[in-house]
Amino acid sequence: MTKILMVCLGNICRSPLAEGILKSKLPNDNFIVDSAGTANYHINHPPDKRSIAVAKQYGLDISHLKGRQFSVSDFDAFDVIYVMDESNYDNVNALTRNDDDSAKVKFILNEIYPNQNYNVPDPYYGGDEGFTNVYNMLNEACSIIAKTL
Ligand code: 4NP
Repeated sequence: MTKILMVCLGNICRSPLAEGILKSKLPNDNFIVDSAGTANYHINHPPDKRSIAVAKQYGLDISHLKGRQFSVSDFDAFDVIYVMDESNYDNVNALTRNDDDSAKVKFILNEIYPNQNYNVPDPYYGGDEGFTNVYNMLNEACSIIAKTL
């Protein structure tokens, strides 16, 4: 079983999309894919309406997902922790207990652009086009992840 966690700030825009996209590319039986936010703003909230809408446009239903906060126990529960941006990276990295924890934390866009540490832009304060842009980036990264696993 391979366990993958997607992490952003609020767990309502980017990481639930990443979760839905990667799940759609992997068989259910050998993989667990989940998502979490570093902040506690949106615990138990559904994804942002604009993330739900862009997912739906591409045939994915993420409306049932619920926000939760990243916790130290996630280092034990998951094999790989993909962060969306530098600030998520710093927040997650600050909670690592040892080198094993640190080795699990990766920038998701490094799957497309190795070692560049590019950010998936936070679309929360922008318009719908930001969500389409994020969808496209995550879709490309998740295709590579699914092929590599
Ligand atoms: P996310 O976007 O990290 O992609 O889920 C955000 C969602 C909510 C907030 C910030 C970013 N917020 O400040 O509430």
